[in-house]
Amino acid sequence: MKYNLVILPGDGIGPEVMQEGIKVLKRIEEIFSHKFELQYEKAGGAAIDSYGVPLPDQTLNSCKQADAVLKGPMGGPKWDQLENKLRPEAGILGLRKELGLFANLRPIKLYEPLKDASTLKPEVINGIDLLIVRELVSGIYFGEPRGIFGEGENKYGVNTEIYRTGEVSQVVRLSCELARARRKKLTSIDKFNVLESSRLWHDVAAEVSKNFQDVQFEHQIVDNAAMQLIRNPKQYDVLVTTNMFGDILSDEASMLTGSLGMLPSASLGGEVALYEPAGGAAPDIAGQNKANPLAMILSISMMLKYSFHLDRESLLIEQAVDKVLRQGFKTADLTNSKERSVSCIEMGDLITKEIVG
Ligand code: IPM
Ligand code: MN
Repeated sequence: MKYNLVILPGDGIGPEVMQEGIKVLKRIEEIFSHKFELQYEKAGGAAIDSYGVPLPDQTLNSCKQADAVLKGPMGGPKWDQLENKLRPEAGILGLRKELGLFANLRPIKLYEPLKDASTLKPEVINGIDLLIVRELVSGIYFGEPRGIFGEGENKYGVNTEIYRTGEVSQVVRLSCELARARRKKLTSIDKFNVLESSRLWHDVAAEVSKNFQDVQFEHQIVDNAAMQLIRNPKQYDVLVTTNMFGDILSDEASMLTGSLGMLPSASLGGEVALYEPAGGAAPDIAGQNKANPLAMILSISMMLKYSFHLDRESLLIEQAVDKVLRQGFKTADLTNSKERSVSCIEMGDLITKEIVG
């Protein structure tokens, strides 16, 4: 089979981790005789530098025609002075919105050799395997009105959280289906005791869940969930929540796995899905061959599974990651001061070598 991929390498560590991801993909291509046709485009800071906008039409059109999009992290201090709608982040948000990617899947999985890399006690985190589903194209990230208005002491900034019934039901329904294929438990997270947008979320989620009698459904309030994630993360299977709460809780939850550099993501819901590491562009270590490419590599594994149903190929990548970590190889984000770390390129090579047909 031939698959057309659009590659958005991104900013900061983006191009480095993307290069290792592509290396792994080439290995899959070799073993299974699939063909991945790669088309490189610019978005985020790289596009601002070349074209003055974070999401050029050319990039968006290519993405819409692709079979899947692979994206590196974007942003950096270089673009901090720009107004919000011209920042690299606006490119990311535009892409998610334009592609209709309403569900962002962030799997929180602890690889056993990394149990000491986490700041949490091994008995709290061992065997952790949960899935956060973050609503991605609505909520406070996109609601109108938004902006900074007025003058002087009365100048004010405003954002609006809006959730429509249809937006909540589509993401909760997908989460129920995902839970059904896993351990059959779904926790919906909101702040219904204070926010009307959350009250609607709460009620719609409860309603949708009634159609999935085999899935155990519960609600949690977001502040409690933030605490429970650290106190007893094993209580969860699938978590579904709003755009903003999902952004925050997924960074928090990544620490159960040792590093944000371990957190891949899949954004689904439209015709073309997008795969990207959940972490940022880490400009402080960019260009130093130090970044952890595993989130990018695991995002590619998710692409093979969710977009192309190549389950065996996807699993081979996950198993290679597991094997390499078991051999004791770690990038700098995963080591303590006494351990030796491998570079981004070395990690990519090690994973590639472990993938055998
Ligand atoms: C993420 C990131 C983005 C977000 C930023 C870079 C716009 O933090 O993917 O989690 O807030 O969604
Ligand atoms: Mn985030």
